[in-house]
Amino acid sequence: SKGDHPYYMIKEILEQPDAVEFTLGERENIQRIVDDLGDIKNICFVACGTSYHASLTGKYLLQHLAKIKTDVVLASEFKYTADTLDKDTLVVFISQSGETLDSMNALRIAKETSPTLAIVNNIGSSMTEEAKYTIITQAGPEKGVAATKTYIAQLTAIYLFAGLLANDEKLINELYNVPGYIREVLKKSSEIEVLSKRYSFADDLFYLGRGFSYPIALEGALKLKEISLIHAEGYASGELKHGPLALINHKIPVIVILPPGSDYEDTMVNLEEVKARKAIILSICAEGDAKAECKSRDVFTVNSKVSETIAPLVYTVPLQLLAYYVTLEKVA
Ligand code: BG6
Repeated sequence: SKGDHPYYMIKEILEQPDAVEFTLGERENIQRIVDDLGDIKNICFVACGTSYHASLTGKYLLQHLAKIKTDVVLASEFKYTADTLDKDTLVVFISQSGETLDSMNALRIAKETSPTLAIVNNIGSSMTEEAKYTIITQAGPEKGVAATKTYIAQLTAIYLFAGLLANDEKLINELYNVPGYIREVLKKSSEIEVLSKRYSFADDLFYLGRGFSYPIALEGALKLKEISLIHAEGYASGELKHGPLALINHKIPVIVILPPGSDYEDTMVNLEEVKARKAIILSICAEGDAKAECKSRDVFTVNSKVSETIAPLVYTVPLQLLAYYVTLEKVA
């Protein structure tokens, strides 16, 4: 039940630290899968919607840490990839429900040629029956229309999988700190509630991020579109100047995802580009980031120990809250 919460969405956003903790309990199962896989040359993710954004994060992780060439394909576009699969390509299906028809159709084709792994939240769903390997994300049932806790749980499973495949102890250890980082964000949810009053007027918003923060931007925009019905676009921050920069003006809020790390300075250049066009800037950045604070109208800050590599697990949460509170503001 929703308990004391007015909507499932907020209840499930608040359950995210547990979703991460319980999904980290899948470590031994994931290690067994990694051991059994042996030498995998390529990985291909197939998914829809929010699960597609989790897959994009997976691609960056696997290429960056494990140096495994990775593709990400929308399930509905799968037919143009199917003929290139082989036995050395692991095809990974990400799905909250484990039932999405486009993904199921692709799984039935992929298993003819390739080993398959389904990362799903529903035990006993169709995909768990069809795939060779299964990882269950331990988010518990998700009732809200917008995927929130299942997304963070998918990411947790993908980070564990990539960390174990790459033998990256440091990354794996850092995952155990994520529930705490998310709790810190949730404790400040009233700040997002206040900010939502300053942003709910907008007809169009842009979300910008680079590298690991690019899928965060896509997911932030998708959540806002799905729930508030406000138009939003997620963009790779370096790509904005190659097209829609001309759309930016003093009426357009731009949400900039700015975690500390190697992409920070380049994203800051892009922030300055939209600032020059008088955009209303809300930066999601690290605590103590004076530069972001001085260049943005508003900031929401995250623990400065959250680096860009694990930012998707934490920086997504304020954007879910923003979508939720902006929607409440609009219907009020
Ligand atoms: C869409 C939903 O229909 O399916 C999205 O609107 C969801 O919210 C997508 O992300 C994929 O669903 P699943 O269950 O395969 O992750």
